[in-house]
Amino acid sequence: MSSPTDITALPKVELHLHIEGTLEPELIFELASRHGMELPYASLDDLRARYAFEDLQSFLDLYYANMAVLRTADDFARLTAAYLRRAAAGGVRHAEIFFDPQAHLVRGVPLAEVVEGLVEGAYAGTAETGTTSALIACFLRDRSSEEALEVLEQLVAMKAPIIGIGLDSAEVGHPASEFTDVYARAAELGLHRVAHAGEEAGPDYVWEALDLLGVQRVDHGVQSVRDHTLVQRLVVDRIPLTVCPLSNVRLRVFESLADHVLPQLLAAGVVTTINSDDPAYFGGYVDDNYAAVADQLGLDRADLARLAHHSVEASFLPQGRKVALDREIDAWLGEPAS
Ligand code: ADE
Ligand code: ZN
Repeated sequence: MSSPTDITALPKVELHLHIEGTLEPELIFELASRHGMELPYASLDDLRARYAFEDLQSFLDLYYANMAVLRTADDFARLTAAYLRRAAAGGVRHAEIFFDPQAHLVRGVPLAEVVEGLVEGAYAGTAETGTTSALIACFLRDRSSEEALEVLEQLVAMKAPIIGIGLDSAEVGHPASEFTDVYARAAELGLHRVAHAGEEAGPDYVWEALDLLGVQRVDHGVQSVRDHTLVQRLVVDRIPLTVCPLSNVRLRVFESLADHVLPQLLAAGVVTTINSDDPAYFGGYVDDNYAAVADQLGLDRADLARLAHHSVEASFLPQGRKVALDREIDAWLGEPAS
């Protein structure tokens, strides 16, 4: 069994990380104070006591509420640099970072403020740690596709350095089929396409993401195990799933890690990756997720290296960087566990 310190040395890529979900309670209080805002929480403990979620929606309510403290480019820069620092300490060599433009626009925060801050924080974080990153703009599936398309055009007009688009927020009742025009436009622009699907909703939502949106990766996708034909499709087309084990337990998708379908997905041959989703809310960063599945699901060092190789394969990195990272992972596997 690998020790947690050994897992932090395993080179890995993070592919499912909402930057707004890295907003730690301490930073919420600090930014609120800086902006002269009154928080509806008496203390850090009072805020933390609200992190017992019933389901996805109960989490999203708090996640969107806490974003109120993110107002300036500097706030976004601090958040991003802090994430990259923490991710690098956990062995992350590259991160493809989600952000939710609409969640800020509806609060009156200009898009330029958000994008400039993310870019500045990413630059500073990479300069400090060597961990690189890229940005993926996610659209909120519980808002209209017309609005999503408008925001995509704004991002293009301002030459925002995004590598792709995603789809997140409340899933049930908001199928991928509502967003076909947004994804068609993204394809026309040469952007990568991913989408959350099969987190709480069933396999139908994953089929739609594949067949109607043409996604290259599925975020979560854990409900795919309920449909054998769908699992075969993921295997044959090598469509990766970005799985977030601690998130799934905190949002009650599975009762415990022992009930997680990760072993089934790996056994079937799905390109499964391990990620943290919203680490400030779900009890751990990506290395914590690797450590938890190693411990609770009995994964050995070879399994962990395989998951890390999958994260490299599933990334949108250039081939040369992928080869270099794969070599680093093999070197980790070849070393005795610390
Ligand atoms: N936004 C942030 N985290 C999310 C999740 N786990 N599912 C859907 N939307 C999200
Ligand atoms: Zn997510």
